[in-house]
Amino acid sequence: MSAAENLAEERHITVYIMGKAYEVPAEATIMGAIEYAGHQIIRGAGCREGYCGACATIYRLPGDYKIRTGLACMTLVEDGMTLAQIPSVPAEKAIYDIEKLKPDVSAMMQVYPTIFRCVACNTCTKACPQGLQVMDYIQAAKRGDIAAVMDLSFDCVECGLCMLRCPAEITQPLVGILGKRLYGRYLRKESPDLVAKVKAVEDGAFEAEYAEMMALSREALSQRYYALDSE
Ligand code: SF4
Ligand code: SF4
Ligand code: FES
Repeated sequence: MSAAENLAEERHITVYIMGKAYEVPAEATIMGAIEYAGHQIIRGAGCREGYCGACATIYRLPGDYKIRTGLACMTLVEDGMTLAQIPSVPAEKAIYDIEKLKPDVSAMMQVYPTIFRCVACNTCTKACPQGLQVMDYIQAAKRGDIAAVMDLSFDCVECGLCMLRCPAEITQPLVGILGKRLYGRYLRKESPDLVAKVKAVEDGAFEAEYAEMMALSREALSQRYYALDSE
């Protein structure tokens, strides 16, 4: 079969982008479909692999009352999907000096007192494309359980979808960052493996490997990167 016949065989579905219908490949991601439809994404795209959180999307499916959320680079299109991209959710980022905070509830009260407006509706958890228990880490922040905030928010990609949906207008990802900073500054246990690895770096154990990589072409370096097992 020729390439042209292959293209003709490809199954297409209809999605609505900014209110206009487009026929796009049925197997495309939302991001791929938007570009296939002829739009250039200049905001709202970064890693394209589910890590950076830049591509927050809301959508509805035909006959379904729910507003759904997803990352455009990781979510596949569905027939009749109506899409809107959310490249940024405004949030007031608190300015603080981590050296002047304590790793307990006082830090949360001082920096993000809005968390005490939480009505425990769980909408943030339902909105999270990472499947995080967002409400639980906000509840942990209210209790001053910094280790739990760090743990439960660890895989947050800062997409902002939870705070977009929160009726109490809480800035969950920023609360998560504060929890991680407090944990890193005050509560983290020393890792013997990390200490050993830092010493190995300082002793030059990786100099030869580093020099070899620096001599690689961009293409060879790219191949090496994509051959790595991702953790
Ligand atoms: S916690 Fe919020 S900002 Fe973080 S990934 Fe989930 S929805 Fe996105
Ligand atoms: S959406 Fe807002 S109010 Fe509802 S549980 Fe999450 S943080 Fe609390
Ligand atoms: S572009 Fe980075 S998560 Fe989608």
